[in-house]
Amino acid sequence: MSYNAPMTQPEELVAGDRAELQKPLYIPALDAAALPPGKGETVLLAGRRVAVFNVAGQFYALDDDCPHRGGPLGSGWVDADACHVTCPLHGWAFDLKTGAGVTVPARPVRSYPVRVVEGKVEVSVQLAVSSIQSSAGLRRSGIEVVSRH
Ligand code: FES
Repeated sequence: MSYNAPMTQPEELVAGDRAELQKPLYIPALDAAALPPGKGETVLLAGRRVAVFNVAGQFYALDDDCPHRGGPLGSGWVDADACHVTCPLHGWAFDLKTGAGVTVPARPVRSYPVRVVEGKVEVSVQLAVSSIQSSAGLRRSGIEVVSRH
């Protein structure tokens, strides 16, 4: 008797793993209800400080560190009409949708995909950390609220 089980080729495993790793991996950041409109908050996601903002019920996420001198963007001032945040240290402004530099266009800040699922704001920081952590590691990663403003 012979058994001819289908065999998975190593190339298929690699392709499947690659596809899995390329999916956006969203990490719960905070309760949507905990961040009022017009406010920002800094959270630690997979070892990275991320500033999350609520603009009229739409959520955005940027690196918390201002590219000028590392000011905490999560503590910045939100301009809901322009959809900008202004750094509290020296006043550079950034587009919340894209991270584009408004004050200094040559110095943008990284922005992250955001979604809201069952009342939780989730942020995908996969591209920022994919080279240092596996997707399983990200799923196990802790979430810590650093500051709320
Ligand atoms: S540190 Fe943000 S503008 Fe200077």
